[in-house]
Amino acid sequence: MKRNNNILITGKQITKVFGYGKHKTTAVQDVNFDFHEGEIISIVGESGSGKTTLAKIMMGLLKETDGTIEYKGQPRELNSHKSRKQYWKDIQAIFQDPFSSFNMFHKVEKLLVDCIKLQGLRLSKEEQFAKMKEACSFVNLKFEELYNKYPFELSGGQMQRLMIARIFMLHPKVLIADEPTSMVDACSRSTILDMLLKLRDENNMTIIFITHDVGLAYYVSDSIYIMEKGKIVERGLAEDIILNPQHRYTKQLIADVPKIHTAWNLA
Ligand SMILES: Nc1ncnc2c1ncn2[C@@H]1O[C@H](COP(=O)(O)OP(=O)(O)OP(=O)(O)O)[C@@H](O)[C@H]1O
Ligand SMILES: [Mg+2]
Repeated sequence: MKRNNNILITGKQITKVFGYGKHKTTAVQDVNFDFHEGEIISIVGESGSGKTTLAKIMMGLLKETDGTIEYKGQPRELNSHKSRKQYWKDIQAIFQDPFSSFNMFHKVEKLLVDCIKLQGLRLSKEEQFAKMKEACSFVNLKFEELYNKYPFELSGGQMQRLMIARIFMLHPKVLIADEPTSMVDACSRSTILDMLLKLRDENNMTIIFITHDVGLAYYVSDSIYIMEKGKIVERGLAEDIILNPQHRYTKQLIADVPKIHTAWNLA
């Protein structure tokens, strides 16, 4: 457990409604959260429970219908280009489908150079090269083999790792990782999770990890929020939630993963 008592990002009564009348969907309803510096939080819920919608609201990519988000104790303000730029320097996300997150017409080198530009760093070609190589080696990718390729020439696992290399370069204060392991095999999955844990350890990053897998959530997180049909039905320390679930839905999620009991001797 790395978290300290500094609350970085707070959500108060966040609600998101899509559509009108007969076509109205309340994707997120009255959600409250407090995420601390250096904390890993998992948001767990089944498909359609509102996890990605909540993640997009946290990122400022979707406007909440109701409620407020505070960042570093102040109401979040995203009205100007300058304030958005500042916020996105601090908060970054990796989404379910890495292929939708990259500009397919940009080669790997440009995707990484853009991270250097985003930070406003003025570096020589050699210094840029060294930074990109360092980021690639952090995620076990060989820059020399990839820099001239387009995203669609990479495998799903390589793409995911490239996204993490970008996070390594940008070192945001908060990373939202929305099912970052959904497109990769079990082996790459644990490598990706370990990379995320290392990022937290080295940079005291706050990581919001979104998953439908309560076992993964237990493995990676300090705190767990359980989401059902747009609402947070239970939240607390990971051990408390998994070892002593209170809510019917949490109990059901845990029961749906029979191996959790034998694998961790929780029975
Ligand atoms: N742009 C949109 N317009 C209308 N409805 C939407 C929109 N985005 C999401 N929804 C609806 O909101 C609800 C929550 O969707 P969301 O994508 O947040 O779920 P999720 O928990 O991320 O699911 P999954 O695990 O499948 O990724 C769903 O009923 C979905 O159909
Ligand atoms: Mg989703």
